[in-house]
Order: sequence, then structure tokens, then C-alpha cells
Amino acid sequence: MSLTNSEKSIIVSSWDKVSSQAEAIGTEALERLFLSFPQTKTYFPHFDLRPGSAQVHALGAKLAAALDDAVKNIDNLDGALSTLSDLHAYKLWVDPVNFRLLSQCLQVTLAGHLLQDVTAATQAAWDKFLEEVSAALTAKYR
Ligand code: HEM
Repeated sequence: MSLTNSEKSIIVSSWDKVSSQAEAIGTEALERLFLSFPQTKTYFPHFDLRPGSAQVHALGAKLAAALDDAVKNIDNLDGALSTLSDLHAYKLWVDPVNFRLLSQCLQVTLAGHLLQDVTAATQAAWDKFLEEVSAALTAKYR
């Protein structure tokens, strides 16, 4: 189900509050992913995955930039994420189940940065938004 206008405005305004911390959010979300769901590490045999890794930080920054782009193109997620969708489907072969795991880690991380700005409505909107982002990124598997 697509995002309502009210959900879109919640995403835009809550991201605006933490976008200056975007790199840290991307990096922390990846660190949580590798810690909580170690099976996801199999996609990164070429990475140093220890805490504080410069490679994880660099990918966290790229992840955050992709999210920033998605928020800015909230009405055209498929278009905005098309190149990344090709990468994850045809080159990286990331199993779609992993997107749900990363979405959960992103939500916990976002909550840690938004703090008192997290309401039930914010949480629900991010859950749905990240589901849409994941759907756009895994669309090419079908
Ligand atoms: C919200 C979902 C996701 C977003 C927005 C995202 C975004 C990105 C971005 C921006 C890059 C860098 C592309 C580049 O260098 O041009 C990337 C690379 C990569 N992603 Fe994702 N990704 C997501 C989910 C996942 C998941 C769930 C996995 C696997 C568990 C994954 C595995 C990878 C791998 C292996 C690379 C290549 C890393 C490298 O060799 O530098 N991604 N992703």
C-alpha cells in the first residue's frame, strides 16, 4: 500500500530533524545489522566488519545518501532507486529477506536519534517507507 500524504510529510519532517547525523545513522544501522543478524555478513567477505571499520563507515555514508535521495524523491521511489535496484539484484544478488532485517536496524537506529520525536505514527510511517524502499530495491528480482 502506498504512503499517504500524511505519512510522507512525517517522513520528510522527521528525516529533516536527523539528516545532519545521516552518516552516523547509516553506519550504526549497518553495525546493528552485522551484530544482530550475522548471516548478513556473508555478503561482505571483502569487508573489514569490525566495530569502527572505515569500510563500514563509508558504506554507511552511501546508505544514508541513498535514503536521503529516497526521501527527496518520495513520490518516485522506483525511479530514484533504479540504479541501486539493478546493483542489488543483478550484481550483488542480495536475498530480499535481508532488506527487512536492515529496515528493522534502521528503525531502531533512527529511534535512537529522533528520541522524543518518535511517536507511534512516526514509527509506523518509517516502517512503511522502508518497506517501499525495499520493494523498489527488490523489484527487479520478480
Ligand atoms: C534500504 C536498503 C538498502 C539500501 C538503501 C542500500 C544501499 C546501498 C548503496 C548506496 C550501496 C553503494 C553502491 C555504490 O557503491 O555505488 C550499496 C552497496 C551494497 N549493498 Fe546495499 N542497500 C540496501 C540493502 C542491502 C542489504 C539488505 C544488503 C545485504 C545484506 C546489501 C548489500 C550490499 C553490498 C554487498 C554492497 C556492496 C558493498 C561494496 O562492495 O562496496 N544492501 N547498498
